[in-house]
Parts: sequence; structure tokens; C-alpha cells
Amino acid sequence: MIFHESRSMNRPNRSKTLRRVMLGSLGLASVLFTSAPQAAKLGEDPIADVIAALSVEQKVGLVMGIGTSYPGMDPSRAPPLVGEAEMPVPGSAGSTASVRRLGIRSLRFADGPAGVRIDPTREAAPGETFHATAFPIASLLASSWDTELVERVGRTMGREARAYGIDVLLAPALNIHRNPLGGRNFEYFSEDPLVAGRMAAAIIRGIQLEGVGASPKHFVANNHEWNRYTIDVRVSQRALREIYLRGFEIAVRESAPWTIMSSYNKLNGAYTAERSDLLNGVLRDDWGFDGIVVTDWFAGASAAAQQNAGNDLLMPGTQVQRTELIEALKDGRLDERVLDRNLTRVLELVLHSNSMRGGRPSNFPKLMLNAPVAREAAAGGMVLLRNESALPLASNRRVAVFGNGGYRTLIGGTGSGDVNEAYAVSLLEGLSGAGYRVHEELAGEYQTYLAAAEATRPPPKRLRLPEPIPEMNLPRRLRGMVDEVDAALLVLSRNSGEFADRELEGDFRLTRDEQRMIAKVSDAFRRKDKPVVVVLNVGGVIETASWREDVDAILLAWQPGQEAGHAIADVLSGREPPTGKLATTFPLAWSDVPSSANFPGRALPVSDPEARGPQGTDPAAEVIYEDDIWVGYRHFVTREADVAYPFGYGLSYTRFAYEDLELSSDEFEGAIDVSVTVTNEGEASGREVVQLYLAAPGENKPARELRAFAKTRTLEPGESETLSFTLTGRDLASFDEAALAWVADAGGYRVQLGASSVDIRQEAEFQLGETKTIEAVSTRISATLRE
Ligand code: BGC
Repeated sequence: MIFHESRSMNRPNRSKTLRRVMLGSLGLASVLFTSAPQAAKLGEDPIADVIAALSVEQKVGLVMGIGTSYPGMDPSRAPPLVGEAEMPVPGSAGSTASVRRLGIRSLRFADGPAGVRIDPTREAAPGETFHATAFPIASLLASSWDTELVERVGRTMGREARAYGIDVLLAPALNIHRNPLGGRNFEYFSEDPLVAGRMAAAIIRGIQLEGVGASPKHFVANNHEWNRYTIDVRVSQRALREIYLRGFEIAVRESAPWTIMSSYNKLNGAYTAERSDLLNGVLRDDWGFDGIVVTDWFAGASAAAQQNAGNDLLMPGTQVQRTELIEALKDGRLDERVLDRNLTRVLELVLHSNSMRGGRPSNFPKLMLNAPVAREAAAGGMVLLRNESALPLASNRRVAVFGNGGYRTLIGGTGSGDVNEAYAVSLLEGLSGAGYRVHEELAGEYQTYLAAAEATRPPPKRLRLPEPIPEMNLPRRLRGMVDEVDAALLVLSRNSGEFADRELEGDFRLTRDEQRMIAKVSDAFRRKDKPVVVVLNVGGVIETASWREDVDAILLAWQPGQEAGHAIADVLSGREPPTGKLATTFPLAWSDVPSSANFPGRALPVSDPEARGPQGTDPAAEVIYEDDIWVGYRHFVTREADVAYPFGYGLSYTRFAYEDLELSSDEFEGAIDVSVTVTNEGEASGREVVQLYLAAPGENKPARELRAFAKTRTLEPGESETLSFTLTGRDLASFDEAALAWVADAGGYRVQLGASSVDIRQEAEFQLGETKTIEAVSTRISATLRE
């Protein structure tokens, strides 16, 4: 391509005032964007005219952000400004330049999956606060299996984003829980792509209904943190299509996100952000995505390759990228038409944005109204894993609270999934608020211990988690305390976040302190026949098999957001009966998980000279997904391997019966309707998550796969509800690598309605007369699994 004058030079009335500005002046916004009296205006004139009024350098300045005030960022990496850098929202993740002359407003981006992540205070507004609601982590939301609830969470987040002038919320995150040690699993929904995709679609719908764009991330196969900027994930076409891409496909098709975020990692040899087959082929051609692709922050190696691949917007934007793009336009590595195509999409997003449509930030989200949504969502996704008649526990009972997490309840993980909330309710506060009488002497000892430990704890290293505080030695008077209460509540907490995966010892497995605490509390309370209830205040899966028999109940409360203590008390007392089910398997041992043989991967002898990230150059590394499609329950159910708690499992305070499974036909002719009636046969109210699995004929397929799910409304004892589902061709199909198509094999398909992946209550069969190609795809993700 020819590095030419801005096309506006050909337009007589605009050309004179538009000066061609060379690279050296890029930092001078006022020079670069010298006013032109009759320039085209975005929103009034066609986008092509607006683009024609820009110089090449200006165009380049608009397909990338203007830097970031990322907490912990080295300021020397912040690029100089291009265009008019409107004051971004303090603490937000980044923004783009505005060009007032052409009516182009700046786009503002904020994290992240658990709520709007911005600074709670501003230098420019002393005395004012800018908090946002901290919602429960995504793993909890998914465990609700309640898309209506999750959509409401999305709407509430969207309203807060809008109130703060945010155009795009960098959420949801829907990478697959491939392994329990994934450091950001808490930000992700599930091991199953249907659950992940449907949850993502619900939250995206909610956010976008409020006029804010969503940005499902990280596309794709970004399943752990180790060497995240360079890791080469090698995965088969089938596993990609059926497991890792599938959730994104559902989200794109069901909710049309305005943006999507490509990931840091490589996929089969090339950065995802630089793969045209992925971004243009799969995303746009196969799925019809018509939004913009945003890079993850500082992702990939080559800005030109990213632009060529259809990665429209480079975030947060660096000077290095700007220089590279200008050079690439000169030497032909990047065609200006490609740049224009990407810029067109960016400007379409600007046009869509709330601020462009006249929205002005109130900076006043209705936090008081939003807190009940966070509380309801938190209770709705808690999972009762074990209950030997210990729960519900009436809220006038006396309880002894053990474990640091009872007093410092973790409400979410760290990194971009963190939120600056106005307050966080600890379990202690929640219990007291609900009417429980908490053992004060024990609580006092914990508070003193924790305050002292916090005062001497070294500050966390940059971008690292704070050191966990070991569990306190239990009071000598433990036995006496047992007499003074009705039950023990024992909290186990886990934190994790960006930049690091979890550890096997002392994280997936319990610490010695925790083991001792459980043993002692269990012994003391069981002697007196008083129950021990464990609350898991965790972001991901932990080992439970070695100690669960020692306790009477286990409530998986996850990291429940700012209303943590209230929501846990709601579920313990039965004010909100437990209705969540696992969207991720709890294995007996970490090594039982097939991906553990290849987790997180291996460092390669050479370092990757191109790789860069906020931490500098990372070593080259690769991981081979030998577990292929055998992720989570697909493996355990097919191999009939024991687990601690299976996918789809969760207890309630009542019992449900499944009856009258009906299929609309016993021959598949394009679709089949399925219905089943669920009745509450117990003595308490509750809601049931009904799962529809399909056992398909043919070789090398999971014994069953989740193809639909629904949650009943609240059913009082004796009440019933009939739930309906529709199965389409895609539900029957698996991905045929040779045919490059979704193919349904001829034969008998068993429809299995279950209360979990191993608790099938009703079955029926239909036939597919002959093998059918359901949908061909146009893109083969190039490169082989091994090179
Ligand atoms: C994370 C993204 C996040 C972005 C902006 C990156 O480090 O991977 O999830 O949206 O930062 O904060």
C-alpha cells in the first residue's frame, strides 16, 4: 500500500486545514487534531466520510487505547497521548482517544466480571466516593443455574457502569475450568461450555440492555495463569469446537456482544490475537459476530499481525504498537484498507456507546437498591454439599465460629475480578444480623489474633496475593465453649487471582492448621452430639474427601460478593433454601482430573523474544491438552470414576420427584420437545435444577453430555412444575474433524433427565434414521496439535 496523505486531501473544502502530521508530533494533541471547519461528523455523516477526514497517523491512534493507569503499572510504559485524551474514569482499565472535531467520543473500558472496577476515590473530588457493588464470583453465579437471576445481575452491573460513564464492561469471563488449580477459575463459570455460554449470554444481555457493551473474554483457551503471555496451548479441533469455543459460540449467537476480548495465549502456535482464522473465520464468518475484537491488555507480539487478524482495537495502547503500525503501513505489512475496516468497526462501537447517545455519568449508582440483587444472587448460587440433619439451623441458635474466614470473609478474588465495594459483610456480621448468637469470647480471641497478624504481615508483593494468615490455635477452653453453644460453624477460605495459579499443597489440599482445626472442633462437638457445619469460602475447587466425614454439613458459599455474610446466614437458616448445584466437579484427588497430567504445561528451552507483558519478556512455554474433550464430568461419568461431588450435584432442604418424561416424537426430524414434571415431595420449600443430558450413539463420545437445563420456580411442599426443553440438531452432534462439520450419528439417543450428572431420574429414547451433517464450518484452525 502507498503511505499517502489523508484521503480528505482530495476533498476541496476539508483539505486545506487538515495538516499532515508526521510521527514526531504525535504527542501533541492540539497539533495533530487541528480544527477543520467542515469536517464530517460521526453520527451525522457516514463513517466512511469520518474516516476519510483522518490522517493515517490519526487512524492508527484510534485503533488503540491511550494507555492505562493500571494499578501497579510501570509509568514509563504508559504511552504518550494521541488525540484528545479525555480524562478516563480513574481506576478504570483504559480508554480510547476522542476527536471532537469529528464528533468521535472516547470509549471507556472497566473491569470486570464481579462488578465495575474503578477507584473508590478521586483526587479531583475530595470527600466523594465512587464505590460499586461487588457481586458474587462467576463460579457462584453459574452454580445458580438461573439465567433470569444472572441476567438481572448483568443489568445491575450495566446500570452501575452507565452511572460511571463506562461504555464497555470487560465481562463476563467464560474460560473453561479445565483444572482446579487455574488461578482465575473464580472469574469463570464452569467446566461445561453450555453452562458457561448460557450464563455468559444472560449476563451480556443484562449489561447491554442498559446501553453498555459487554466484552466476553478471554477468547480462547486461556485456562490458567502460568506464563499466560506466551503459553502455546495445543489443542485438537474437536476439543476446541466442543469445549473451548462452544461457550463463546453460544454467547455470541444468543446475546450478540458488542465486543469480545481475545486472549493472551497462543493457540496451536500463534497468538489468538493474531489469528485471522479465529477472529475472522470462526468468530465472524462461522458465528456472525459483528462487534469489535479487543485485545487483552498488552497481549500478543505484533500490532500489525493483530490488526491484520481482525483484532480491531489494541488495548490499552502503547507507543511501541503505534510506531509498529505506522511502519507496517509504510512497508506493506498492513494494508490501509484493513486499518479502515477495523476503524470502521471501532467507530460503529463509538456510535453505539452510551456517551455518544447523550448519556452523561451521574456518578451516583443506586448502591442501596443494588445490594439486595447481590445478596439474592449470592444465596442463589450456594451449594449444599453435605447435610447430616445439621441444616437448616434456626437463626436464634448459639453458634461458635471457627476459622479466619468467619471474621474476614473473602468476598471475591484479586486482580481485574476485584471490585472496590462500599462495604463487605463478614460471616460474623451476617450471623448477628440474622439473629444468631455468636460466641463472643471466641470471636474476641479471633479478632485479637487477626488484628495482630495483619499488623505484622508483610505487604503483598506487586501483583501478588497477600500471604494467608495461618489458622489460630484453638482456645484451651474449647470443650467448655461447646457447652455454651448449639453448633459450630467452621470456615475454610481460599484466595486467588490474576498472575498465578493455585498450589496443590495448602490450597487445593488443606493446610495442616486447617486439618488440625477440623479434627479438634469435630472431636469436641461430636462428643456432645452437636453439629459442625463447614462453610467453604473459596474461589475454586478444594479437596474434601479426606475430612468430610468429620463434619455434619458443608455449604459451598464460594466468594459471595459484598453481601457475603448476609447471604450465607440466609442459606444456613433456611430463609433462602439452598438451590445451587455444582457447575464444576469436586474430584477426590487432584490427580484424578485428566488435565493434571498436563498442567500448567512446560517451559521450552528458548525464551520467546517477541513476547511481552507488563512483567517484561516471559519464557516460552507450551501445554498440550491431551485431555482433549475429556474435561470435567465428561471424563468422570464416561470412565465411571468416583468423585467427591459430581457435576450438577447439590442438596436442598427438601426432596424432588421427577415424573412423566415425554418426547414429542421418537424419531428426530429437526427438533424434539421434551417435558418433565418435578414435584416437591418434602416438607420445605425449594427449587430444583433439572438437567437434560443426552447419550449419543457413535464412537469416542462421552457417556452423556449436558444439552439443556432449567430451574423450577420456588415449589412449596406438594407443588409441581412441568419444565420443557427443545433439542435441535446441534444438540445431537459432535464435531467431525475430517468433515469439518457438526455431525449427528445415526442411532438411538437417550434423553436423560437428572438431578446431577450421575443421578438420572427419567430416561427416554429417540432415533435418528441416518447420519446427518448438521452444520458445516468454514474454518479449520490451522496448525497441528504437535509440531
Ligand atoms: C486481564 C483482563 C482484564 C484486563 C484489563 C488483563 O490483565 O486478563 O481480564 O480485563 O487486564 O484490566
